[in-house]
Amino acid sequence: MQKIVILTGAGVSAESGLGTFRDKGGVWTRYDLTEVATPEGFARDPVKVHDFYNARRKNASGAEPNAAHFALADLQARHPGEVVIVTQNVDNLHEAAGATAIHMHGRLDRACCAACGADWQAPLEMFPDDPCPSCGASATRPDIVWFGEIPKALHVIAAHLETADLFAAIGTSGQVYPAAGFVTEAARAGARTVEINLEASDVAGLFDDRLTGPASESVPAWVETLLS
Ligand code: OAD
Ligand code: ZN
Repeated sequence: MQKIVILTGAGVSAESGLGTFRDKGGVWTRYDLTEVATPEGFARDPVKVHDFYNARRKNASGAEPNAAHFALADLQARHPGEVVIVTQNVDNLHEAAGATAIHMHGRLDRACCAACGADWQAPLEMFPDDPCPSCGASATRPDIVWFGEIPKALHVIAAHLETADLFAAIGTSGQVYPAAGFVTEAARAGARTVEINLEASDVAGLFDDRLTGPASESVPAWVETLLS
């Protein structure tokens, strides 16, 4: 039975109204990522960083999953083999569509404590002085993986890639490692690889197959061929 490992990026949530990072008008064209998405930026100006994530949390909390999220949930429920979704997205739209996903870059709806490591449901707005519910330290932060930090669950993901028969990267530009290297790891393990993106990305040549078009159309069509 075919095991499918899927990596998703911001392009999957774009049609739910959540902006991507590197496209025209994307988040990193409007904000300096060293200021809002690094541990050093947080140490320098925690209010600015909380403001940034508070705004993104508010946006994400009003967003609905689109046809791509629903199709992937359907695939996970109906494919006879294992379907593992690894997402770089910090929204909860895979879960809202009924899927389970490994959040390698963390989640907007979780907070964590830099002092003791506890994590909990994030309030809609977070502030630098919020005490940790576990140890009381004023060291709370969004449970987001920042640049310079190590993504979550990498050993679990590596084991899935090792046993994948099919690997798909959906709606990701392939610019951020280690996620950008998963296609090579999967191919080395013998998986067939496919990129599904609005247009062929700069790293499309690393994949066996390419499907282009908006995720809300291309992903349901791809899932239909897999399930038929
Ligand atoms: P990017 O913004 O780098 O790339 C988004 C990709 O989605 C691009 O290749 C677009 O062409 C594609 N795209 C846009 N709209 C689409 C649509 N409707 N359907 C299909 N594809 C579409 O976003 P990511 O690759 O997710 O990390 O970025 C990776 C990481 O960099 C993020 O997780 C984030 C960011 O900095 C952290 O914050 C740690
Ligand atoms: Zn704590």
